[in-house]
Amino acid sequence: MTEFSPARIRVQHLNEMVANGEALTALTCYDALTARILDAAGIDILVVGDSIGNTALGFSSTIQVTLEDIERATSAVMRGTTRAFIIADMPMGTYEEGPAQAIRTAIRLVRAGADAVKLEGGEAFAPTVEALTQAGINVVAHVGYRPHADAALGGPRVQGRDEEESEAIIDDAVSLEKAGAIAVVVEMVPGKLGAKITEILSVPTLGIGAGYRTSGQLLVWPDMAGMTEWQPSYAKRFGEVGAALSNAVTAFRTAVKSREFPDKEHSF
Ligand code: KIV
Repeated sequence: MTEFSPARIRVQHLNEMVANGEALTALTCYDALTARILDAAGIDILVVGDSIGNTALGFSSTIQVTLEDIERATSAVMRGTTRAFIIADMPMGTYEEGPAQAIRTAIRLVRAGADAVKLEGGEAFAPTVEALTQAGINVVAHVGYRPHADAALGGPRVQGRDEEESEAIIDDAVSLEKAGAIAVVVEMVPGKLGAKITEILSVPTLGIGAGYRTSGQLLVWPDMAGMTEWQPSYAKRFGEVGAALSNAVTAFRTAVKSREFPDKEHSF
């Protein structure tokens, strides 16, 4: 694995890892407690995604998420980490009006601790990416399936299945890279397209349901850890943390109800 001197991963370290053929690891994260665990395990990138809406906040989508939600979560994740590169999502409604709005939003997220901000959108957002970059802010683009555009895209379905759609996604990625994006998240596209975008771009790609040939792999952490009964088909469960937590809670409840807890060892 690539060695680098500063504790906190920077853009050049991500590029170096990719150049050395190392896959980038990325997970979403929304709080300091979880951030400490993911950071200590060596995850390279933590994304304070607006999937906080349908995970931690209990909404049915990401569109109810506010800038304050992401700002608060970003500062918590920053406090819980020493190494991971932190990407904060710009929520729906906080950047689409144009560069000035996007810069105001991004500055708040950078002040909260983000190393980069992420925006969903295609070629039309290239001027915004360029303005943010010129303002000295790292931008990560997000193409393919874009949760903010769920209604327009016909729901959460694989994007770029035909030639025309896949060319459009490639054009999006290329124009956003040209505008200054430091990385591109590619969500829910056929593996072949994920590989092609990765081949064409010189910045890293982070695939989420985009096959195995992207520069890195990104998952929503509760999906990865098996916190919920359901997860998208591309998201492998690497643990059964939900079941483990449920067992611990049941054991606590049983011990309290039976007055076995607290015992002598846990009493003053
Ligand atoms: O909101 C989110 O979690 C995302 C993922 C693609 C990281 O945008």
